[in-house]
Amino acid sequence: MTIQWFPGHMAKAKRELQEKLKLIDVVFELLDARIPMSSRNPMIDEILANKPRIVLLNKADMADEEITKQWISFFAQQQLQALAIDSQAGAGVKQIVVAAKEMLKDKFAKMAAKGIKNPRPLRALIVGIPNVGKSTLINRLAGKHIAKTGDKPGVTKAQQWIKVGKEMELLDTPGILWPKFEDEEVGLKLATTGAIKDTILNLQDVAVYALRFLTQQYPDRLKERYSLHVIPDDIAELFDAIGKRRGCLAGGGTVDYDKVAELVLRDIRTEKLGRLSFEKP
Ligand code: G4P
Repeated sequence: MTIQWFPGHMAKAKRELQEKLKLIDVVFELLDARIPMSSRNPMIDEILANKPRIVLLNKADMADEEITKQWISFFAQQQLQALAIDSQAGAGVKQIVVAAKEMLKDKFAKMAAKGIKNPRPLRALIVGIPNVGKSTLINRLAGKHIAKTGDKPGVTKAQQWIKVGKEMELLDTPGILWPKFEDEEVGLKLATTGAIKDTILNLQDVAVYALRFLTQQYPDRLKERYSLHVIPDDIAELFDAIGKRRGCLAGGGTVDYDKVAELVLRDIRTEKLGRLSFEKP
């Protein structure tokens, strides 16, 4: 679902998140490993302030492994611990609890020193933009299916704590934040990776962006997938070449550019072109 974010929605989302922050010890900031910057809320540092935070590079199974490693170092330089995870299959997810416990060990040691014998479980919240995988991760950590709240800031339900083992509790409603949508390239990257689905952007514009990116960064994958000997410089010629190879034709045998755009974007989102990262640190 694509949300139209109006200023009122953003203010409300921010307020709701700030309320939740009062209840929790640690925030898991969920980003898309393929586009860590474009899938980030532009005000996140201000909103989270000094709350302990772990960055989770989700959908790492679809991202370029080498580039994900570079992102982890990039965040480390900013004093932010980042973990690569795949919420769908579960890879890396166990490490989240381990990292959170380690991060909060001083706080809990102080509680113990004050004589609190049975320290409560540490409390966590997942935050991120729509479609980054928040519900998938909540379900993965919960080990069961938790109903998804509508991706609408302001649509609230009673919050509950989900037990994650003995040592952690997770709020069952994530913090939903807006992306940096006023930047056109951010919008194109979100659409390319499928974060914006029923897109307000033109499909062909998104595919043009994606194909130019692939031509520069992953030319061999493009050649292989669409059996191209050379990649034409002219983008219309590239659409033609792919369309002819893959039978994306309209009446009279002309290439149907919308069909080509759909095909290329589907191929990207279903990993037919392999693991792709659209941003480097
Ligand atoms: P949200 O709550 O943040 O809005 O996101 P949600 O969990 O609904 O996840 C959005 C889509 O991303 C889902 O696909 C989900 O399966 C997929 N996804 C989440 N985490 C991962 C991951 O680590 N790896 C991969 N490969 N996929 C992940 P969906 O429901 O099938 O939607 P669609 O985008 O395929 O239509």
